[in-house]
Amino acid sequence: MTGRLKVGVIGLGFFGSRHARVFHDHPASELIAVADVDAARVAETVRATGAKGLADYRALLALPGLQAVSICLPDRLHEEAAIAAAQAGMAILLEKPLAHTAEAARRIVAAVEQSGGCLMIGHILRFDTRYVQVFNAASPENLGQPIHLRAKRNATRSVAQRLGASSSILFYMGVHDVDAMQWIGRSKITKVYAQKREALGAGNEDALYAVINFENGAIGSLDYSWAWPDGLMNGFRSAFEIVGTRSAAALDVSDQGLSFVTDAGTIGGDTHLWPEINGRIAGGLADEIGHFVTATLAGTPYRQHYREAFDAIPVLDALAESARSGQPVPVLR
Ligand SMILES: NC(=O)c1ccc[n+]([C@@H]2O[C@H](COP(=O)([O-])OP(=O)(O)OC[C@H]3O[C@@H](n4cnc5c(N)ncnc54)[C@H](O)[C@@H]3O)[C@@H](O)[C@H]2O)c1
Repeated sequence: MTGRLKVGVIGLGFFGSRHARVFHDHPASELIAVADVDAARVAETVRATGAKGLADYRALLALPGLQAVSICLPDRLHEEAAIAAAQAGMAILLEKPLAHTAEAARRIVAAVEQSGGCLMIGHILRFDTRYVQVFNAASPENLGQPIHLRAKRNATRSVAQRLGASSSILFYMGVHDVDAMQWIGRSKITKVYAQKREALGAGNEDALYAVINFENGAIGSLDYSWAWPDGLMNGFRSAFEIVGTRSAAALDVSDQGLSFVTDAGTIGGDTHLWPEINGRIAGGLADEIGHFVTATLAGTPYRQHYREAFDAIPVLDALAESARSGQPVPVLR
């Protein structure tokens, strides 16, 4: 492709509004249009970017000259929009999770492969400076054989309340760590044993813990919570550890090393994900979208193939089934 990439953004909530700003600011992309059923959100992004605003994403997909779309709809709506975008011949940046079930993910992949199009999944940890360094440190030459892995992602109860039944702790947060575990551990998860707790009435899980097994013999644990009070510094805590026969690597994002203190208390800041720096969104989200733009224009492969992103979805299905049944569940691929 030549010239700037002509992009549309579908869904302008918490994340889509940020995608729109990054595409608008990137020198190699042109934000042509945005779509959301919420007219106020459309008006706000149109004001900020000058893009064309629409209510119906199918009208956006029909715009002449549009080359790519970013889909930032609630998880359960990814399938319909991604298939429509593939059929319209768009290069697609689809927010994680690829889909809310393995069956839906398979239908998206089939539509993309039928149309010969491009698909990248928004697995932001692949662009996070900390997770990428743990991946590098966990190379087989450095680490030896993985023995155990641990991932934690905890956030506040207001996130769960905002999303309600439109998402789940596994789709919205869990997919990040399941993808990271298989990527950094260089092995697929084969079996899971999960338990969940629902006490706050948000319409989704308050917490889910799991023990997991990998193809290469490693064991691991997942620790997810949406139950923290809203005063949690930075709004979330995440951690990742991998311990091997020769070495180990670990990260902890509970404290990002930045705090703002007033008489009312202390709040944290975002140093890595999507901080606003000199009037622009920077960090992992800007790097991820920049990679999508330049790789799509150049026709080069995306950092993660969508088939690898797909591998997380059957694990989420197994985790959900195990949490429901109270039994260990094999991952069916
Ligand atoms: N990579 C990350 O770190 C990260 C962070 C947050 C969210 N996400 C992902 O981004 C996606 C969106 O999450 P969010 O937090 O922005 O959700 P959100 O609920 O804040 O926003 C969703 C938006 O979609 C709009 N919408 C709903 N149905 C629509 C339709 N049929 N047509 C057009 N618009 C419609 C809603 O009005 C809303 O503005 C999810 O897939 C989520 O998993 C990823």
